[in-house]
Amino acid sequence: MATRKSTGRKASDERTGRDDDDNEDNNAATQNASGDNDAIEMLTEDHQRVSEMFEEYESVKDDEEEGDKIQRVQEICLELTIHSTVEEEIFYPAAREALGEDGADLLDEAEVEHTSVKDLIVQLSESQPSEDLYDAKVKVLGEYVKHHVNEEEGELFPKLREAEDFDVEALGDQIAQRKQELREEFEEQLTS
Ligand SMILES: [Fe+2]
Ligand SMILES: [Fe+2]
Repeated sequence: MATRKSTGRKASDERTGRDDDDNEDNNAATQNASGDNDAIEMLTEDHQRVSEMFEEYESVKDDEEEGDKIQRVQEICLELTIHSTVEEEIFYPAAREALGEDGADLLDEAEVEHTSVKDLIVQLSESQPSEDLYDAKVKVLGEYVKHHVNEEEGELFPKLREAEDFDVEALGDQIAQRKQELREEFEEQLTS
């Protein structure tokens, strides 16, 4: 994403109102109804938000200008990068510990799926919307993410809800803090 610095700054300045709305959503996503951070709820809300961003891209992609498409894809990739980083650094290690052998295959597959997602993020950061395969790459990225999310929400999260010694609130606090740090780091990179 570093190659899109100037475009990111310009588009971000032009969309100040939208960015404020996004920040409110992000803050809301860090807490559940009781005001506590629940790691599984937070990650599920991230999944929902990114899914909506992919749907929105699909619905506007044929009518938008190149700069706006780049901005949308940068926002999707930023969300995915922050999300996958906190899962890899905090959530997955805690899940491995809590599930032991029972979760090993699922977590191994999840990490491989993250690698595929990251590969496409890199490809997109090096592509222009005018290139033939740009929209196809965004679509396939969305499909990879959907498949991965279905496994997390359908298999991993339910197992963890049942697991003893999996403290969703302590993890939620750590994840919320790390997400904030990562968001600030990435936004600084985009505006520097
Ligand atoms: Fe996830
Ligand atoms: Fe994941």
